[in-house]
Amino acid sequence: MALKEAGGSLPVPNVQQLASSSNDVPIRYIRPELELERVSSDDEYVQVPVIDMSKLDDGDDDDDVELAKLHSACRDWGFFQVINHGIAEEVILKMKADIEEFFNQPMQVKMESAQLPNGFEGYGQVFVVSKEQKLDWGDMLFIITQPIHGRSMELWPRIPSSFRETLEQYSIELEKLARCLLSFMARNLGLESEKLLTLFNEGLQSMRMNYYPPCEQANKVIGLAPHSDGSGLTLLTQVNEVQGLQIRKDGKWVPIHPIPGAFIVNIGDVLEIMSNGEYKSIEHRAVVNHEKERLSIAAFHSPNAKVVIGPLPEILVKDQKKQAPSYKSISQQDYIKLAGKIKLDGKDKGFIHHMKIQTEEEQ
Ligand code: OGA
Ligand code: NI
Repeated sequence: MALKEAGGSLPVPNVQQLASSSNDVPIRYIRPELELERVSSDDEYVQVPVIDMSKLDDGDDDDDVELAKLHSACRDWGFFQVINHGIAEEVILKMKADIEEFFNQPMQVKMESAQLPNGFEGYGQVFVVSKEQKLDWGDMLFIITQPIHGRSMELWPRIPSSFRETLEQYSIELEKLARCLLSFMARNLGLESEKLLTLFNEGLQSMRMNYYPPCEQANKVIGLAPHSDGSGLTLLTQVNEVQGLQIRKDGKWVPIHPIPGAFIVNIGDVLEIMSNGEYKSIEHRAVVNHEKERLSIAAFHSPNAKVVIGPLPEILVKDQKKQAPSYKSISQQDYIKLAGKIKLDGKDKGFIHHMKIQTEEEQ
């Protein structure tokens, strides 16, 4: 892995501990550029599309309207919410309760799941390579959940005692939901409905559980810096009622207001590439609250490790017309290496551009 080759992350403070010990915000967290960014106010606020999964399921003609809505959500927004997704409420509530309990444990308990020096899995912070690099106001627990042989069980928390079982259940249910969405997306893209499912068969699923402590200077720090997800498809849930997710739309940051019980879904870089740019992987970030901590769980779904990442041949030939690929095709090993390298160069949000094939005009 590229991150391992880089020789490990520099040590950074635990933000939960930092926030609870002092009101001062160290300079490395202060981001002057935030003042220049435009956030859409509530009155001009636009809501991301909401997809009702129960209207997609039954295979009759009524599906078409909802299918078309899903297609435009993937094309024009890259972000949407899903309701009536069929995942039992108790599975989600249990996951939320257990992850809250984990982050509330004393430091020594959490450190039993600490990131290893060269790894990015486990409890810790975003990978840091220079002393000047600005830091995010948040801690996280990052865990590979599927395939089973890819798990590092030693990093799975033991406390609360139900955590492992809860995460396992949540992982299985979310994978099902992701696959269900992928089959509808395949239809919308003019592919055989099994096409994406095959590519994502025994794919990588990882979970990033985010903890953003409150901050006195909330508007000067960022919980999670702007990025697009390197995965195929992300399913996000907000754990408590504190909001903070924002997406870049028409040059402004648009806050997402989660519907209780819904999942927030977004297209990752891999699906943008596979669809040759028809679906969009949108830049997003997490802001921090003044008074209350915020928690979220992002579940990332990527194709099988053997699958080459590139525009799908079936997409490049549509209606018997050939389309030029807009992105390079590379193995997943190289994809991870490239993503790691670009992250280390501090150009995380520009990653997808490195996969783009420049046309002569753009050069
Ligand atoms: C992520 C992410 C947003 C949030 O973990 O990739 O975008 O609301 N999280 O925490
Ligand atoms: Ni993200």
